[in-house]
Amino acid sequence: MSQYDVIVIGAGPGGYVCAIRCAQLGLKTAVVEGRETLGGTCLNVGCIPSKALLHSTHLLHEAEHNFAHMGLKGKSPSVDWDQMKAYKDEVIGQNTGGIEFLFKKNKIDWIKGWASIPAAGKVQVGDEVHEAKNIVIASGSVPASIPGVEIDEKIVVSSTGALELPKIPKKLAVIGAGVIGLELGSVYARLGSEVTVVEYMDAVCPGMDKDVQRSFKRILEKQGLNIILGAAVQGVETTKTKAKVKYQPKKGGEEVTLDADVVLVATGRKPYSEGLGLDALGVTMTGRGQIATDNHWRTNIPGIYAIGDVIEGPMLAHKAEDEGMAVADVIAGKHGHVNYGVIPGVVYTTPEVATVGATEDALKAEGRKIKVGKFMFMGNARAKAVGQAEGGFVKIIADKETDRILGAAIIGPAAGDMIHELCVAMEFGASAEDVALTCHAHPTYSEAVREAALACGDGPIHS
Ligand code: NAI
Repeated sequence: MSQYDVIVIGAGPGGYVCAIRCAQLGLKTAVVEGRETLGGTCLNVGCIPSKALLHSTHLLHEAEHNFAHMGLKGKSPSVDWDQMKAYKDEVIGQNTGGIEFLFKKNKIDWIKGWASIPAAGKVQVGDEVHEAKNIVIASGSVPASIPGVEIDEKIVVSSTGALELPKIPKKLAVIGAGVIGLELGSVYARLGSEVTVVEYMDAVCPGMDKDVQRSFKRILEKQGLNIILGAAVQGVETTKTKAKVKYQPKKGGEEVTLDADVVLVATGRKPYSEGLGLDALGVTMTGRGQIATDNHWRTNIPGIYAIGDVIEGPMLAHKAEDEGMAVADVIAGKHGHVNYGVIPGVVYTTPEVATVGATEDALKAEGRKIKVGKFMFMGNARAKAVGQAEGGFVKIIADKETDRILGAAIIGPAAGDMIHELCVAMEFGASAEDVALTCHAHPTYSEAVREAALACGDGPIHS
């Protein structure tokens, strides 16, 4: 039996970051992970592989649609799907191997296998029981389906199966126009699949800024995605090689059938804590199957903490990472903190979409007095130089009286990187004027952020 200060269950972004921080703080740390490689869903079957495929197919799209215009003539590249997947696997390997290296460097033990918690202070893996003063559950989430739709990872796939399709489908039906549906829908549309996205709500990316939703939908449609809104999928029927997706338009009318070779179910994820023995331990859960925690990530059982997708909040790798670092601080007797009001959200399509803080609608619904500064990328020289100015913009929402930035949304090139200027501004309680008075290099996409900040005051220069 080995004894630890901390055992972390799960080596996804929440768990591995927590373990590294614990080790840095001088705590003897182990991580239990049953997958063959570290990194959890994000590195193995989520964020990282999808970004590799998005990158490869973005280049293909550029070659097919934009090269000639820029004076790059010649045959477009042809797709070697197996090689594209091999490239993706190589990227996964580099990243998961990187975590293994960091574990060794920080002297973190990797206990291979699936953990259960027979009692507080004890973690069982196979026949072995390990002792730990503190246990951090970072067991993540798994894809959630909807009634009448059974994921078989062959014809009806989750995001995991969609990364490993044996061949590019002629017709891909996507259920759900959320982040996964639009990112992976974009990948296959660029590879030549006829992609139809069926979404229950009346907009893509429900909950996001309304202006962004409208622009985003238009841009995606221009890229060839067929998007059906206000349609509730009732079920999917499959044969050996095909599927029929049945949906009901919300405004009424006949049920519609959509033929597809592959159906991607992207209707959300659910917290994963099966097999941990939480019931027997008496760990309090929320009504939504999450582990209930207080604001120090403590469960109701002393010495057991939980972070990431398995607790409340957005299911985002970076939110889990922040919680991982903060809970390590708490365990080490320091002050751990996560500012849940400043967690960016990014969709890695082309253009990218990034948001942070409150939306204009939510603030208006609260009765807050706000001002909105918006700047279109059509007025940004750099975006025009790379052919990505159309339809994109930066929007900053600030308090009408104090000018303090309350939220922001960007749709445009490198939005996912640019959003952090506004995250930092919000962390520091900055006003729109603070951003507007900051010198921004020319020519950069980030100048559009400054212009949106100027639009909260006396007005932007280039529109
Ligand atoms: P999501 O919650 O983003 O979107 C699910 C969509 O499915 C919603 O728009 C919902 O209205 C729709 N839907 C549900 N039932 C339906 C029905 N019967 N018929 C039609 N539409 C229906 O979930 P998604 O895209 O599966 O992603 C899961 C999680 O993973 C999310 O929390 C997301 O934030 C995270 N993720 C984040 C990424 C990123 O940060 N870039 C990338 C991929 C996933």
